[in-house]
Amino acid sequence: MSREFDLARARRETRGCEQRIHFNNAGASLPPVPVADALYRYLREEEEQGGYEVMARRGAELDNFYAAGARLLNCSAEEIAYTDSATRAWNAAFYAFDFRPGDRILAGCAEYGSNLVALLHRAKRRGVEIVWVPDDAHGQIDVAALERLIDARARLVCLTQVPSGSGLVNPAAAVGKVARSAGVPYLLDACQALGQLPVDVEEIGCDLLCGTGRKFLRGPRGTGLLYVRSALIEQLEPDQLNHYAAELLDINRYRVRADAKRFECWERSCAGQLALGVAIDYALEWGLPSISERIAQLAGSLRRELHAIGGVTVADPGQIQCGIVTFYATQVPAEQLQQQLAARQINCSVVPFSANPVSSAQRPHPPLLRASLHYYNTLEEIDRFAAALRQLL
Ligand SMILES: Cc1ncc(COP(=O)(O)O)c(C=O)c1O
Repeated sequence: MSREFDLARARRETRGCEQRIHFNNAGASLPPVPVADALYRYLREEEEQGGYEVMARRGAELDNFYAAGARLLNCSAEEIAYTDSATRAWNAAFYAFDFRPGDRILAGCAEYGSNLVALLHRAKRRGVEIVWVPDDAHGQIDVAALERLIDARARLVCLTQVPSGSGLVNPAAAVGKVARSAGVPYLLDACQALGQLPVDVEEIGCDLLCGTGRKFLRGPRGTGLLYVRSALIEQLEPDQLNHYAAELLDINRYRVRADAKRFECWERSCAGQLALGVAIDYALEWGLPSISERIAQLAGSLRRELHAIGGVTVADPGQIQCGIVTFYATQVPAEQLQQQLAARQINCSVVPFSANPVSSAQRPHPPLLRASLHYYNTLEEIDRFAAALRQLL
C-alpha cells in the first residue's frame, strides 16, 4: 500500500465509513466532509437568505465548478457544462448531432444501457446504423477492429471507458487516436472513470465527455458535467434551446452561446454545483494518480481474496482493471448475497442487465455482485468482506 497515502485523514473526513463497509462507490460514493458541509451550508443560506440573493453573493464560488472541471480534465472552463447527471450530459452531446439515414455510429460493447437506448432511438427515428466494435481477447474494445470499421460513413465514435458492471478499463486513448486520424468526433462516457482514474481529454483525444458527480468524484447526487471540445462547440447546436443556452436578441432572433453552457438551462441546484466543484478540488488535492494507485491496490487485494473462496468466480475482463470488482458464487444467487451482506452493514450491489447490456449479451454470465472500492476503504474491510462471504457461502 502506498506509504504516503493518508488513510487516517481519508477516513476522518468520511463520516459514513464509521458505521458500515461501503463497497458501492460505483453506485454513489460517500461524500467527504468538506463536500457534504459545503452542500448543507449553501442550502441553509438559501433557506435563510433567499436563493437568488445567495447566488448573487456566492457567484465566484459557483463559477469555481467550471474552473475545477477544467483542471480535472485538462481543458478550458468554457468547454465545461454543468448538468444534473451523466445521462443528461451524454444525451445533450449525442442528440446535438444531426444524423442522417445511412450514417454510422461506431460504439464499444461496454456502452451504458441508457446510451444504448438513445442509440436505438436514433437508429429507429433517423435510420442511422449502429456498428458494434467487437471486443478483443481481453474483453476490451478491439482497437484494430475499430480501425478497420471506421470509414466515410462514420459520424461518431462512442465509448464507455469504465462500464458500470465490470472492472474493465477500456483503452480510451488508443480509440482517440483512431477517431482523430479518421476525423470522426469521439464521445466518451467517463462516468465511472472520473474520480478514480486520471482523465485527460488531451491525452485521450475525445471531443465530448460525460461524467456524474455522485460516483468516484464523491460529489452530491443530481450533479454531472459535460465536456465539449472548443473546436466542436459552434458546430453542435443543442437539440433543445432555451433563453440561457441562447441569448434572445429581439422577439424574432436568438444567438446560441459560444461556450459549452449552450447545453445548460438556467435553473439548477446551485448547492449541487458548488459542492461538485468542491468535490473535484478535493479529488485533485489527493491527486488522481495517487487515488487510482490506491484503488488498484485495494481492488487487486479483493480479487485475490475472492479467487481463494471456493465456488466464487471473478468476472472482470480487460488488461487494465479498476476499483469495480464483479463476481458470482455458484452456491448463492447475487441478489440474496447482496441482501445478506446489507444486513451485516456491508454495502455492495447487483449488476443490472442495463449496466452494459451488449457485452453482457455477448458473454452471458449469472447475475454479478459488484463490490466497488474507493481510496477510503481499507484492507481490513476487505478481510471482513471476504470473511462474511465465506460464512454466507
Ligand atoms: C458508465 C455509466 N454511464 C452513465 C451512467 C449514468 O449516470 P447518471 O445516473 O448520472 O445519469 C452510469 C450510471 O451508473 C454509468 O455507470
